Amino acid sequence: MDTVVSGIRPTGNLHLGNYFGALRNFIKMQNENNCYFFIADYHSLTTHPTPADLHGNVKSVLVDYLAAGLDPEKATLYLQSDLPETAELYLFLNMNAYLGELERVTSFKDKARSQPDNINAGLLTYPTLMAADIIIHRAQKVPVGKDQEQHLEMTRTFANRFNRLYHTEYFPEPVAYNFGEQLVKIPGLDGSTKMGKSEGEGNAIFLIDEPAVIRKKVMKAVTDSGPTEPNQPKPQAIENIFNLMKALSKPETLSFFEEEYNQCRIRYGDMKKQLAEDIIIFTDPLREKIREISADEKYLHRVVRLGKEKAHESASKTINEVREIIGFKAF
Ligand code: TYM
Repeated sequence: MDTVVSGIRPTGNLHLGNYFGALRNFIKMQNENNCYFFIADYHSLTTHPTPADLHGNVKSVLVDYLAAGLDPEKATLYLQSDLPETAELYLFLNMNAYLGELERVTSFKDKARSQPDNINAGLLTYPTLMAADIIIHRAQKVPVGKDQEQHLEMTRTFANRFNRLYHTEYFPEPVAYNFGEQLVKIPGLDGSTKMGKSEGEGNAIFLIDEPAVIRKKVMKAVTDSGPTEPNQPKPQAIENIFNLMKALSKPETLSFFEEEYNQCRIRYGDMKKQLAEDIIIFTDPLREKIREISADEKYLHRVVRLGKEKAHESASKTINEVREIIGFKAF
């Protein structure tokens, strides 16, 4: 049985990218593995949310986890901030993480460019906190989307460095995981290659979006005037619509529109209408459950308390052993 760890930053409700890149794998993995799925609320502090926003966003992710089918009896579902052992391990890992390598991380460079007034130390050390999240449970597998690949590489670097420094094989080498398939990258609706919360209005479809909103967003998705020759390669924005259809529609629907495209008969309006309906069918049951679970504060309280206990059991064992390895010994 493998130990599995993953988390999602609370920035609001989850979108289809989070679902297909991460959450869908969490649900599949919970039956046969020792799973720890958390809400990365420490990580979200890099963007300075207000206390009310932070709490609301944590709740949204928790509710989405449960509505999508994560079972708190099977997997350990917890808040990152309920596990101070993670913060302690983060401190240890930071002692052996070097400025040069942290500055070279793509997500850091992107953030430094997009928010030049807020290049804080938390952003720089984002990968060491993420490594701590993973190795605090000595995980082997980490279900994530394609954008997290480099962070997983850093995690392996930090875990190996710790092992080498202390002449131990204490930490396994965790790998980014998607059931033996390639890691997923769900595109945005605005022609960009990634669906994401911060990519701008209309780029992302959230699990909670109402049918009317979904139709509106999909119909607005960027397209062009269509191919002029048979079997023409697809421009990025068009490729994106096909990729969304691949994730959400039936294979025969996808092949129908592929053929239409290849024969230069494609009507993007029809394709988008179909895609919107398929997204609505997919999200319908989730929306219902999100509403129900969101209203059940007692249940949410129970889930979080249970998760905290179970996560603490695993993390405290690791941190005690790590302290011992480092040389913090009792007098
Ligand atoms: P975050 O919160 O940005 O995204 C959560 C998960 O959703 C995936 N994802 C996508 N997958 C495919 N296509 C997309 N368009 C898309 N957008 C988001 C991400 O790959 C991710 O799996 N650093 C992490 C959170 C984290 C974490 C961890 C993850 C903190 N500690 C430890 C794993 C293990 C992040 O910011 O993901």
